[in-house]
Amino acid sequence: MIDKATVQKITDAADIVEVVSDYVHLIKRGRNYVGLCPFHNEKTPSFSVNSVRNFCYCFSCKKGGSPVNFIMEKEGLTYHDALLHLASKYNIKVEEKELSDDERRQLNERESLLVANEWAASRMEKDLRDTEEGRSVGLQYLYQRGVTEEAIKKFRLGYNLDSGHALTDAAKLDAMDISSLSQVGVLGESQKMPGTYYDRFRGRVIFPVLNASGKVVALGGRDLKGGMAKYINSPESAIYKKSNELYGIFQAKSEIAKQDCCYLVEGYMDVIGMWQAGMENVVASSGTALTDGQIAMIHRFTDNITLIYDGDAAGIKASLRGIDMLLAHKMNVKVLLLPDGHDPDSFARANTPENFRKYVQEHATDIIRFKAQVLLKDIGNDPQRRVNAIQSVVQSLAHIPDKVKRNVYVQECSRILGVSEEVIESAVEKSRSDVMEQQRHQRQSGEIDRMKQDEQNPQPDLNKQLRPSKGREITEMYPFYPFERNVVYQCVRYGILDFCEVEFDDGTTDMINVAEFVAEEIQDDEIWFTFPAFAKTFNRILDLKEEFLNDRVAFNVNLEKEKKELLKSGYDEIASKNMSMEEIRRAERMLDERVNDEMAKRRFEFARYFVEQKLSSHHDDDVRRTVTEAMNEEQPLSNIYLRNNPVSERKMELDRMRMLVPRGVLEWKNELLNQRIRAKMKQLDSLLGHAEPAEQQNIILEIQALMEKRGQLGKVMGDRTIGTKIK
Ligand code: GTP
Ligand code: MN
Repeated sequence: MIDKATVQKITDAADIVEVVSDYVHLIKRGRNYVGLCPFHNEKTPSFSVNSVRNFCYCFSCKKGGSPVNFIMEKEGLTYHDALLHLASKYNIKVEEKELSDDERRQLNERESLLVANEWAASRMEKDLRDTEEGRSVGLQYLYQRGVTEEAIKKFRLGYNLDSGHALTDAAKLDAMDISSLSQVGVLGESQKMPGTYYDRFRGRVIFPVLNASGKVVALGGRDLKGGMAKYINSPESAIYKKSNELYGIFQAKSEIAKQDCCYLVEGYMDVIGMWQAGMENVVASSGTALTDGQIAMIHRFTDNITLIYDGDAAGIKASLRGIDMLLAHKMNVKVLLLPDGHDPDSFARANTPENFRKYVQEHATDIIRFKAQVLLKDIGNDPQRRVNAIQSVVQSLAHIPDKVKRNVYVQECSRILGVSEEVIESAVEKSRSDVMEQQRHQRQSGEIDRMKQDEQNPQPDLNKQLRPSKGREITEMYPFYPFERNVVYQCVRYGILDFCEVEFDDGTTDMINVAEFVAEEIQDDEIWFTFPAFAKTFNRILDLKEEFLNDRVAFNVNLEKEKKELLKSGYDEIASKNMSMEEIRRAERMLDERVNDEMAKRRFEFARYFVEQKLSSHHDDDVRRTVTEAMNEEQPLSNIYLRNNPVSERKMELDRMRMLVPRGVLEWKNELLNQRIRAKMKQLDSLLGHAEPAEQQNIILEIQALMEKRGQLGKVMGDRTIGTKIK
């Protein structure tokens, strides 16, 4: 773990303009920079970099954030690894925090396994080219299969010499740790003679499996002599969970993001074949069904996935496996069947790249449509089969979270299967509630796990990152979601700014900030943020007050120093000019004004950007994401107006804060009362005709009281805040 001070050092040093410039050609425009977005394909620049706030964002695809967040997204790294990446860019020595013995052991173990794999992969890369056998057997095989030099380099292909002890000998010479090499399965231990090792991949062409950050986590070895096992792979280890890796992800990730689409194929050679045909956004699941972890990894880069399979019966069956899981992840799934007997690799070799791409464009079919069509072919005259087919399609439809999208499919499937829309729709809605229930369970247990994990281990798990859910479902679970979001976003923007003075019972007064104002207001109604990411973020903002007060002292000391220097050099300059007394006085007055205004502006910006500075690189995914989104959604004040009005800029921001914050809280409380009133009305409805008149009367009174309160809401809050001073 990286200690807090070092994290601070790194985030302080990382300059957004420098960091982004490694990937994007930036052009200065006013106070900001613009360039072509590195996260999606575009011709006119919508990627903007704000050097004052140390923040970047794409107006079009909404990606970006602090330097740390940018590196995480761009390089597909975890929070921890993104920090290391920046530390090395800025030559900052990273003192990893004192680890417990157990943690250190785990870390050392992982590290030595990675070293072992990297050593083996590099060694076999060299042996492929630098040995006679490597060239005549390994390289010859690859050439003969049409693999290009470029691909061999890109995918770091290698060859394990056939003697059976080539690597074992080399390992001893290089003083490599034999136990690590054996744990990752590069070496095997003889059963008859423990302590004696042999090369497990002997005589095979090697395909290293790189994780998203480019580390060799496993090896695949292809047989060349028609032996029993066509491929052997590394065993699972502390660095390799087969179900969490995708072959090719490191080489493909930036292209996946750029094309906003990912091709999924089955094998090592398929990835390479597609890559050579110019389709670089391709990964392989290595012959197994997709897992949640793999989908989450792809989902970090795109929403769109196209599955590519052989057109035979096995391929069709495989393509239908796991689609419900993909749909539940809100992926848009297409499937492409290649002509019978072809896999992507052979098809790529039999066609020109242009023809291959054309074939993909013309034949990729939406997965649900595809499923309905495939099942329909199977039905024949068998009524039971028909029922099964419909049920299976309904099941898939129920996994689509978006209602509009679901309805489009209901219509289409009704047409394909010849069943009325109403029948399908009601079956889907019924099945949908089961699915939701199931997901709620998973989510709840997941949430608790995440919170626990967050306490113990601030490094986020790459595969556990939740995408922000949108639309309908979220408001089903969190009815106040949009209101909470509005208020928490306002707190990200203004949270630490002074809001109003409050008077205590003993007559003393104190200034409370925006976040504290919000907290008091909502506690008054016994509500709080229910959406976990918002609750977490809001609490962090409240916690910042003390840090803010401390930091502000140091900030003001420095500012005073700077002010003195500015004034001094200004006075010197005036004195050096040949001016009359009158002119000197006027020039000095103007200088004072200008410097004072600059200082006021700096003080304001310090407070205004404090929350985002502190939290836009926060280790917790939920917090960092909420803050980044709030910053992304911010409507900038009109540039034309502001250019010559620096004082008005501050005043306008404060006016906006004074209007938007209470309004947000008000709308939230209003909705709370609306919902309470609706519930009471419903209760009244169900009682009509059954209950005692007195009981009904009571409910009517309660409703009236709630309505009264709703009417008074604005006034009550107005009374509390009016007449308070804003510093
Ligand atoms: P080529 O036959 O060289 O074209 O390989 P391929 O990559 O096209 O393999 P294929 O389509 O036959 O299989 C898809 C994937 O399944 C492979 O890339 C391997 O990951 C895996 N696989 C295939 N055969 C074996 C095997 O015998 N053992 C293991 N463990 N995995 C295999
Ligand atoms: Mn093949």
